[in-house]
Amino acid sequence: MYKLNPITRELQISGIRKFTDLVASYPDAISLTIGQPHWPTPEHVRRAAAAAIEDGRTTYTPNRGLPALRQAVAMYYSDKFQLEYHPETEILVTAGATHALDISLRTLLQPGDEVLIPGPAYPGYEPVVRLAGANPVLIDTRSDGFKVTPASFKAHVNERTKAIVLASPANPTGVAYTREELSELADALRPTNLYVILDEIYSELHFAEQHVSLATLPDMRHRSIVIHGLSKSHSMTGWRIGFTFAPAEITAEMVKLLQYSITCASSISQYAALAAMEDGRHDAKPMREQYRQNRDLVVESLRQMGLHIVEPQGAFYAFPDITSSGKSSQQFATDLLQEANVAVIPGDAFSALGEGYVRLSYACEPDKLREALERMGRFVARCRG
Ligand SMILES: Cc1ncc(COP(=O)(O)O)c(C=O)c1O
Repeated sequence: MYKLNPITRELQISGIRKFTDLVASYPDAISLTIGQPHWPTPEHVRRAAAAAIEDGRTTYTPNRGLPALRQAVAMYYSDKFQLEYHPETEILVTAGATHALDISLRTLLQPGDEVLIPGPAYPGYEPVVRLAGANPVLIDTRSDGFKVTPASFKAHVNERTKAIVLASPANPTGVAYTREELSELADALRPTNLYVILDEIYSELHFAEQHVSLATLPDMRHRSIVIHGLSKSHSMTGWRIGFTFAPAEITAEMVKLLQYSITCASSISQYAALAAMEDGRHDAKPMREQYRQNRDLVVESLRQMGLHIVEPQGAFYAFPDITSSGKSSQQFATDLLQEANVAVIPGDAFSALGEGYVRLSYACEPDKLREALERMGRFVARCRG
């Protein structure tokens, strides 16, 4: 047996990946598992990348990212979400939001620290916390519409608590916080010295209202690290471009981790990102419109099936309660795949709090979605019958 890092040994491959791999052996299945928009990357972005290759702009860039890109990022997110950050000292270009989360959490955490994670949660948070020797503490949001409240937050804070991760809109539930809810959370955070990691990767796929960042509320900026990226807003999952927005002192530490993990994000992807930031302000709009319609279809269909669903306000996921089927999440997802040729992700991939649910991604063509929901409806009826 090799003597490897015991923390790494303990980590599991994400349940999303495991199930997606299983789905590959069912070529006729309709897959509602995918966590990426079904649109291609916008043409103007692809053209910018091709030009970067042709022109030989293929060398290392500054660790923090191309200055022109950081400038464009600062303007884009200031205009869209009132995030006011200095491009030279407060913004980093990372290899996707995944990498941004990694360097943010590792910059903050020491062994023994605790990080609050409202759950069910995206599976990318817990492992990074553990790798830093810190401990994730899940906040059960199931009876609060999948949102952390000031009361549930306060109930989990102790002297070891270092930070809280807040995603809005969230994966896997699609719920998003209103300005009022964020403002109440800000009131609860103000007397503490906690940091907040704000995962805002789905902010352009927010249906209900204009996305609000907690970092823009009074006295929140100095404790916030905002995570953004182009995977979802510009359908650029494979390009691996993310951003961090944080006060200069925190950013100066994060850049060391960035340097020693990746040196810099891909130069070609950075030129593509520059095009997205300069000329792609409306790129997310058609996706948002389509996913809003898909959301309505999914919510109506699931309710007709008799499954309880908290209406998603953004992203492209629905997270229905499937306990009335009498099956566990794994069993439900496996049987649905084998018997009805529809693939969804078992809820326990999103922490133990996800047991009893499944995640459907509706980032797909409406016809495909309709067919998948009809098959699922017949399957659910059979389970009950
Ligand atoms: C909530 C959330 N955060 C972060 C990420 C990672 O995004 P990226 O592709 O930019 O690494 C995802 C991807 O699915 C996500 O759902």
